[in-house]
Amino acid sequence: MLNKTKIHLFKSKSRNNLEALAVRVCSILVASTLLMSCNNEDSKNVTTTDIQTTSNASIWPRLNMDVKTDVAVETRIKELISSMTLEQKIAQMIQPEIRDITVEDMRKYGFGSYLNGGGAFPDNNKHATPADWIKLAEDMYQASVDDSIDGSSIPTMWGTDAVHGHNNVIGATLFPHNIGLGAANNPELIEKIAAITAKEVMVTGIDWVFAPTVAVVRDDRWGRTYEGYSEDPEIVKSYAASIVKGLQGRAGQDFLSDERVISTVKHFLGDGGTEGGDDQGDNLSTEQVLFDIHAQGYVSGLTAGSQSVMASFNSWHGVKNHGNKYLLTDVLKTQMGFDGFVVGDWNGHGQIAGCTNESCPQSINAGLDIFMVPTNAWKPLYENTIAQVNNGEIALSRINDAVSRILRVKIRAGIFDKPSPAKRKLSGKTEIIGADEHRNIARQAVRESLVLLKNNNNILPLSPHQKILIAGDGAHNIGKQSGGWTITWQGTGNNNSDFPGGSSVYDGVRDKLANADGLLEYSLDGSFQEKPDVAIVVFGEEPYAEGNGDLDNLEFQRGNKKDLQLLRTLKAQGIATVSVFLSGRPMWVNAELNASDAFVAAWLPGSEGAAIADVLITKDNGRVEHDFKGKLSFSWPSSATQTTVNRHDKVYQPLFPYGYGLNYGEKSILSDNLNEVVVEQQSITGDYKIFDRAAQKPWNMYLQSADKSSLVTSNVQSLGAITFKTLDKVVQEDARAITFDGSELASVRLTSSFSEDLRAYSKVNTVLSFNVMMSKFPTENVFLEMLCEGEGKCKAKHDMTQLLSSLDLDKWQSVSVDLACFSDKGLDMAKLITPFKLSTQGELSLSFADISLSSQSSDQASVTCSNN
Ligand code: BGC
Ligand code: BGC
Repeated sequence: MLNKTKIHLFKSKSRNNLEALAVRVCSILVASTLLMSCNNEDSKNVTTTDIQTTSNASIWPRLNMDVKTDVAVETRIKELISSMTLEQKIAQMIQPEIRDITVEDMRKYGFGSYLNGGGAFPDNNKHATPADWIKLAEDMYQASVDDSIDGSSIPTMWGTDAVHGHNNVIGATLFPHNIGLGAANNPELIEKIAAITAKEVMVTGIDWVFAPTVAVVRDDRWGRTYEGYSEDPEIVKSYAASIVKGLQGRAGQDFLSDERVISTVKHFLGDGGTEGGDDQGDNLSTEQVLFDIHAQGYVSGLTAGSQSVMASFNSWHGVKNHGNKYLLTDVLKTQMGFDGFVVGDWNGHGQIAGCTNESCPQSINAGLDIFMVPTNAWKPLYENTIAQVNNGEIALSRINDAVSRILRVKIRAGIFDKPSPAKRKLSGKTEIIGADEHRNIARQAVRESLVLLKNNNNILPLSPHQKILIAGDGAHNIGKQSGGWTITWQGTGNNNSDFPGGSSVYDGVRDKLANADGLLEYSLDGSFQEKPDVAIVVFGEEPYAEGNGDLDNLEFQRGNKKDLQLLRTLKAQGIATVSVFLSGRPMWVNAELNASDAFVAAWLPGSEGAAIADVLITKDNGRVEHDFKGKLSFSWPSSATQTTVNRHDKVYQPLFPYGYGLNYGEKSILSDNLNEVVVEQQSITGDYKIFDRAAQKPWNMYLQSADKSSLVTSNVQSLGAITFKTLDKVVQEDARAITFDGSELASVRLTSSFSEDLRAYSKVNTVLSFNVMMSKFPTENVFLEMLCEGEGKCKAKHDMTQLLSSLDLDKWQSVSVDLACFSDKGLDMAKLITPFKLSTQGELSLSFADISLSSQSSDQASVTCSNN
């Protein structure tokens, strides 16, 4: 429920009662429809064609697809299906990841497809060459068509996240992330970008990309905001068709020809509309809004022929999409008429109620066609799915439908008829990767994506005859300017040398000044030898991907405004400042705007940072070669808590509206006195629950003993020195009992896979509290730890031995620890990764329940640490 608390705070206060009521009614309707389909005991006899659509299905139009059903293709599918064993069919539906299978597994099982996740490379080598990629593609392909073990010779296909160019491959052309492309609002350019991406992907022997993301992003706190083109469906709708055509070619012309790849519109559906902008969270839109806002990219992308759809991690009214038969089958396939396949997202099926990564008939029954199953869960999943068909939990007709869809796409894409990956037209033509003509298109995209927000006294454009200082940690940092999904998943850990052929903003400015008589200095911290006329300061967000980028408000550099300091220091010396802001979303930067004479939203431009200088600096003769073209495709917030400000809102008061963006010569009227007062989130009240009968999202419970760690998945579990079981305190199974046998260091902890920003909660909640019942006193020291993500001091522990030893045996008692006991030791609540970890090397037996941050006054805590 903690997410709900968050929601009430920051958003949708403006929603009127009628709308709220409508949402509630709809939610009840939807929930009951879903329950019926989830609990459908007759699923054995149900096929996709005889599913009843609900009355609301009229919201969803029948799409007139550019790619039509073809009798010859359908006949071929039928023949193939009739010759396949159940095992071969299920193998088509399993998509493992390259880190978890070998070529021999492919030979043995004949998987229909496989993927490399973000930051996964052939041989785990970040610097794998195109030849290494092709070799893996070729080996996997040959193993898949080798029928000596599995009896099947259906070629496999490889899917990859080429989401801003072929971003896993060193040297590829990296385009601006989608948010910047949205600001460019140029569908023709987008089609070229997609076509280039397809080509660079084809060089490495890969068949299929997990793009475009057509999320319509409503809350900019979402860590995937930059993967979306806009907050409004208009651009998303026009772009989805262009991207799909660029990636796949055009139906009836060069559709899936030898320079094209299969595309995926993702993540179906409503990923950009979750409450609080929570990644993988819950979308509470009405069905009409789901269609009008969130589905528009599917309407155009599927019409243009996209052959696959990726199911989303998010829920709609509490039901995870991976198990939502109404959305996956009734709406998408039956009503809209999609005849390609639905691929799952990264173990997304494991998040459905009643499922695990290893077993999930619910998902297939709901309409999922391919399980994306990284980790070694693929093997039990394969075996369990076969068993579930045999025992009737999954109807064979559903399997046949799923496999037909996969084969249909493979036939259309020529996977059966093309040469093997190493022998394809573009394969191995390494000169295509990062080719000049590709980079030129990327440079154009960078230029067109820049949005000029402020330009007082027309300080821009700069002249190459000026004395220019370029400063800031983004000035010469291609990794930072490229953001997440850049070589590595999170986009972290990259150096400029990881981008051969790419350029930084500094590189561009240097080139512009090379032949003029201006002077250029570069320093990270704004220091200089000779006083400049103007400083370009390049700064912004550090790279992140997915939930790691979720925020609880939009304030830039909360608590540590180092770039603001840099700007102010320069201004104080009488130097004009031009800010180039690198970010995955609009942010509250009022103070930075005030400290800048000009301010450019540059988003995440990718590998061609130099193009920024094309716009900032004139030619030698003073002529402007490239004016600003970008217009905001996201409204810019006027406060840190204005997180859901969107075009067409009834009450709409952004700092800069949707569509805003200055050109040269236009008068910039932005005041230098924008409100800089940080609005405290007073409205947060109540406890922040970490464990309440069960671990609360996003926290998961783990046991650890020496160096072994395991996720708690059952009621009774043991690992090394620790045993664990559920027990009843007030209601069933609301508490956990743990016993440490003293044989080695062991712990129980609650951890999230993404760090959480709990600063707002820790301001009002001053203690970490929990209920505990002692069964055996500790024989050695017991520590309570909180951990955050980051270097060095992100670990704070407090010795609990004395306190625990002083409690009564066999009696529930409430314990609270002043949060100062942790913050004093350097814990950063902005990046909390483990809010509770109890460890000991000795013997100990206790039970615990109800872990939360609560608002007890710290001097009444059982453990106090405050100095005052
Ligand atoms: C993301 C998808 C991506 C997949 C494969 C998931 O975590 O949500 O967008 O395609 O991983 O890397
Ligand atoms: C990424 C992977 C990553 C994983 C972690 C996925 O979305 O694609 O590369 O390792 O998430 O959970």
